[in-house]
Amino acid sequence: MPEAKKLEDLFHETLKDIYYAERKILKALPKMAKGAQSKELRDAFEKHRDETEGHVERLQQVFEIIGKRAQGKTCQAIEGILEEGEEVLDEFKGSPALDAGLVSAAQAVEHYEITRYGTLKRWAEELGMKDAAKLFDQTLREEAKTDEALTGIADTVANRKAA
Ligand SMILES: [Fe+2]
Ligand SMILES: [Fe+2]
Repeated sequence: MPEAKKLEDLFHETLKDIYYAERKILKALPKMAKGAQSKELRDAFEKHRDETEGHVERLQQVFEIIGKRAQGKTCQAIEGILEEGEEVLDEFKGSPALDAGLVSAAQAVEHYEITRYGTLKRWAEELGMKDAAKLFDQTLREEAKTDEALTGIADTVANRKAA
């Protein structure tokens, strides 16, 4: 009979997934900031890079809470999403649609994070891990705020320029 895996196993696996993803995002954001044409978008990426450092630290705290070593596990989803961002950087370099493309790529990243943190927060609550749930909630709010800020930049700067 296969091993009876439970919610705490899923929780640990998903924690490793988002830990891997956040560290990849931390490396990708400076490239996106460097590529951005408008100051608004560059500032938004730089601000979120700093926040992302905090996301990595919060995840390390959750690993501590569950008594496991902080360890990532390859996340194919974020690899693909970030690869698309790189494609935008390459293919739209120097063109007026570059920032609109970068906003779109970055929003895909934020939405991925939002789905992961939403799930992890629920599971932490279910497992009675209040402190972990709180940490996820703090990050979740920053991801959602970033997503909103990106929508604002799309509406006021990036899409207009691209059109
Ligand atoms: Fe994050
Ligand atoms: Fe994020």
